[in-house]
Amino acid sequence: MSHRTDENDANAPEGPAHSGAFRLRRGRGYHPRGAPGRMPWSRLSSQVGNEGIIAVDYRIAVLSGDGVGPEVTGEAVRVLGALSGRYGHRFDLEDVLIGGVAIDAYGVALRPEDIERARLTDAVLLGAVGGPKWDDPTAKVRPEQGLLGLRKALGLFANLRPVTVFPELVGSSPLRSEIVAGVDILVVRELTGGIYFGRPSRQWRERRGRVAVDTLVYREHEVRRIIELAFELAAGRSGRVASVDKANVLESSRLWRSVAAEVAGAHPDVTMENVLVDAMAMHLMRQPSRYDVIVTENMFGDILTDEASMIAGSIGLLPSASLGATRNRHGGRFGVYEPIHGSAPDIAGQGRANPIGMILSLAMLLRTSLGLDTEASAVEEAVASVVATGRLTGDIAGTSGSPASTSDVGSAVAALVAG
Ligand code: IPM
Ligand code: MN
Repeated sequence: MSHRTDENDANAPEGPAHSGAFRLRRGRGYHPRGAPGRMPWSRLSSQVGNEGIIAVDYRIAVLSGDGVGPEVTGEAVRVLGALSGRYGHRFDLEDVLIGGVAIDAYGVALRPEDIERARLTDAVLLGAVGGPKWDDPTAKVRPEQGLLGLRKALGLFANLRPVTVFPELVGSSPLRSEIVAGVDILVVRELTGGIYFGRPSRQWRERRGRVAVDTLVYREHEVRRIIELAFELAAGRSGRVASVDKANVLESSRLWRSVAAEVAGAHPDVTMENVLVDAMAMHLMRQPSRYDVIVTENMFGDILTDEASMIAGSIGLLPSASLGATRNRHGGRFGVYEPIHGSAPDIAGQGRANPIGMILSLAMLLRTSLGLDTEASAVEEAVASVVATGRLTGDIAGTSGSPASTSDVGSAVAALVAG
């Protein structure tokens, strides 16, 4: 073990999160449960008069990453602090370096031992990776390898990306209000297969010039599990699935489509349509309210969700959950939760990033991985209230007045959550 922080550690960070029963640990080493120096639950529970309640603490890995990642993650952590104060939970946070900052510190975008540390937690909160400093196309080590490696190593094959519209923000979309009002889509993106991971993937030189290859490969079981999940989710929603592929060109899409037909046959309660990805790119702009669950392969899902963020008004608003089959100590699904926006180097460090996508990702974490429904709803309601008051970052603030900062928005949400 390299280093332990405790209540009296002079190196402990100052910040909104570091208060009361809620403790943000900045140690880089692994902290065994029950290590000395931790605030005992019994003390807390007697403070709030809850003697006899069994201590439940939640362990979350925090991978804030690059660019605006640390700024928006800091706001989610602030909201966790407010939740801790209001509901008496203890959240133990494990900081882990990922992306460019990990390359600078260790020479790799995510160390194998840090993947293992993340695996031992109940859920992972992730900011963003990447930036111009590490963008050299000839570099062997790239920030994105950290994120892709984490998804793959943890078996997070399903990336859930809800696309909803706050009523007050229909005017923020570049699309007309009547097109975006009431949209409630769940994009289910396959996350550990397809062209992101297929081999070979390389570049070489031939006499006539350079050549590069990437491989789009899918195995039946990978296709089946993601489409099945989409059908299960649709059954709990409005019962409609759009399966998106490029079956008129790609063999992998023809496999996808035939598996989708088999899954549909076993789910008479859900209706499915097949939509070609190019057509879907158009339909999302023309009539997005027509769709409920959209399921698609890795790269199509990446592209379509950036496009779909314009329905919501800003890419800074959309959260995501990456899930696999494993469960955590609390019986919830283990997952990685991150906003869909990237590291936005152009606005990094300026307090301009919208923290709402990150804070809504935290709400997904609370509900899906920790089973904290009430707390998740409290966060979502707080976000909705802050949106309604119009105290918003520049990406959605409209033209009147000066926009709120990242921490203005985070503090406003945290204050409402604190009750
Ligand atoms: C995303 C991002 C990542 C992806 C990048 C950073 C590797 O764009 O999560 O959508 O392409 O999956
Ligand atoms: Mn993306």
